[in-house]
Amino acid sequence: MSDQQTQNSGAAMEGGGFYNRNSAMQASGIAALLSLWEAACLTVHIDQGPLTIVDYGSSQGRNSMAPMRIAINGLRDRLGQSVPIEIVHTDLPSNDFSALFEALASDPDSYMLGASDIFPSAIGRSYFAPLLSPQRVHLGWTTWALQWMNTGAIEAQDHILAGMSASPSVASAVAKQQASDWECFLRLRSQEMRPGAKLVAGFTARTTTDTGWEWLLGELWSAAGEMRKDGLFSEEELNRLTIPIGLRSLEDIKAPFIQSGYYADLRLQHLDLVKVSDPCWEEFERSGDEATFAKRHADMTRAWSGPVIASLIADSRNRIELVSDLFSRFERRLLENPRPHQPYMAAVVLSKRP
Ligand SMILES: C[S@@+](CC[C@H](N)C(=O)[O-])C[C@H]1O[C@@H](n2cnc3c(N)ncnc32)[C@H](O)[C@@H]1O
Repeated sequence: MSDQQTQNSGAAMEGGGFYNRNSAMQASGIAALLSLWEAACLTVHIDQGPLTIVDYGSSQGRNSMAPMRIAINGLRDRLGQSVPIEIVHTDLPSNDFSALFEALASDPDSYMLGASDIFPSAIGRSYFAPLLSPQRVHLGWTTWALQWMNTGAIEAQDHILAGMSASPSVASAVAKQQASDWECFLRLRSQEMRPGAKLVAGFTARTTTDTGWEWLLGELWSAAGEMRKDGLFSEEELNRLTIPIGLRSLEDIKAPFIQSGYYADLRLQHLDLVKVSDPCWEEFERSGDEATFAKRHADMTRAWSGPVIASLIADSRNRIELVSDLFSRFERRLLENPRPHQPYMAAVVLSKRP
């Protein structure tokens, strides 16, 4: 695939390490994937080195520390304590890679601490393009990224998230895009994976009736609606505020594999739907502190959606002020109506034909 075919809007997570400091919800989902990941590290077929692990959509790296540490320990238990391992973190060119390298150097949980012969590197390119030479990858890891669509062209008039629109035409455009993005990701990763390699993925998903984002993103959309009523956004500007995310069902994820059990030489070894627990709610139940609960959720939501929302506002407007106003209103709404936020995550393990 050429670069021209990658259409992502290009907005990564909130920079300056903000995502690293505000991604506890994602970490909570990742915790539910770690046993699948450990099993993949312990069973993956290894024929020749150097061992290569790729973290697709790494963002600023903090949430990759635990899984990469598990992989290092698992592979070294099998192959010897000094076996060299390269770890490649990939993300969009606009990602805050400085925060990633800072975290590798100084985060107390960095997988680099006390480790030798570990070789981290990064690639700033969409994973809807080839990233590595053929058959280079032994293990792939990707969390909370594959729900982002490879297009910014779908506009919903009734929701801030494309995948939560009730409009049949938007729902059908999202489903079509998500199907083609999934197949494209599978084909490209398969080319990079060694025979017998494994890839573990966790990303936002849904049941037929429920996404788990109804409360949180309903409040964000209502906050944007308040700004429209107050004359801060025109109707057209409000309609443009569509985050290019869709949510796949388990059937959508299985679809490419149905016919022969394989797609692009990949087999779907494991698939289930996990309801992610809300770390802020657990803390709120202990402390009763609504203000902290609302602030943490507002910051976590801003960490992943703030830059893309800013990019959807014309640059002739004061984007910084408008986005800050949106998130202040959002935080106030969360404070008035606190609830647990429990999104669904698909847990996926793929293995390449040996
Ligand atoms: C919510 S963050 C997840 C970060 C980290 N993996 C975690 O679990 O906390 C989603 C990441 O996916 C990245 N992403 C989205 N689309 C991408 C694409 N087409 N290619 C590479 N990275 C992408 C975003 O830039 C962002 O850093």
